[in-house]
Amino acid sequence: MSATIISMVNHKGGVGKTTSTLNLGKALSLQKKKVLIIDLDPQSNLSQSTGIEEPEKNIYHALCEGAELPTLNLSTNFDLVPADLDLSEAELRLQSDVNGYFILKKILKSAAENYDFILIDCPPSLGILTLNALIASHRVVVVVQSEYLAVKGLQTIFNLIEKLKENLNTDLDILGMLITQINRTVFRTSIANTVREIYQGKVFETMIRANITLAEASASGKDIFSFDATCAGAKDYQDLAKEVIKLLKNK
Ligand SMILES: Nc1ncnc2c1ncn2[C@@H]1O[C@H](COP(=O)(O)OP(=O)(O)OP(=O)(O)O)[C@@H](O)[C@H]1O
Ligand SMILES: [Mg+2]
Repeated sequence: MSATIISMVNHKGGVGKTTSTLNLGKALSLQKKKVLIIDLDPQSNLSQSTGIEEPEKNIYHALCEGAELPTLNLSTNFDLVPADLDLSEAELRLQSDVNGYFILKKILKSAAENYDFILIDCPPSLGILTLNALIASHRVVVVVQSEYLAVKGLQTIFNLIEKLKENLNTDLDILGMLITQINRTVFRTSIANTVREIYQGKVFETMIRANITLAEASASGKDIFSFDATCAGAKDYQDLAKEVIKLLKNK
């Protein structure tokens, strides 16, 4: 087994990266895939969304102190590497290390043998933590909120991926752009259509509907399938997991 490593990115904040990492990860595990999700954001929202606060060991210790990757089991086939506010210090530490951009790649080499998928929840920036994730990854999911201005900063991410592909990670590819928080208003639908027109063929067919239950689940430290498996959010992430599996089979 060698995992497909996927970074969930957008330097814009609040677009649904963390919600998607948690719920796509859980949905893949329910499809009998072995999944590890990694919290790479000092805000540690992913860890909090699984009910974990102030973990004893977190990703910082693995990145900056050479500790073993701390994995916590959440449910069958579903593990988490937590983060903590400590991680904000990692940016400075990594920047002063000549190998600072490659540490996550190195750390994940042996972990990859134990999983089918590793999903990395990136912070809302394109700094050294996100670069570590992109250099360690095979694929990228660009999470895009169906909101005005959402389309604007996207080119920056694509340019960065192209640059990385030239040299630092020639295997990197976009798995898809994920449109989130869609609803039936003409406004949001037209934004989703614009994204599809501009980025033809790169946008997931599955879109994640705006669904307050997703926010409620995170706030109570649960994934959507454990919180309310019948809601729209659970259905959407289940569809996304199937689409991801199908896409990777065809590559
Ligand atoms: N489909 C959805 N419907 C309704 N609310 C959602 C949906 N997806 C995410 N949210 C809510 O929107 C907020 C932002 O989502 P999330 O934390 O996943 O974004 P993010 O991109 O990880 O943010 P950051 O950039 O700060 O890390 C959260 O309160 C979350 O619960
Ligand atoms: Mg987040």
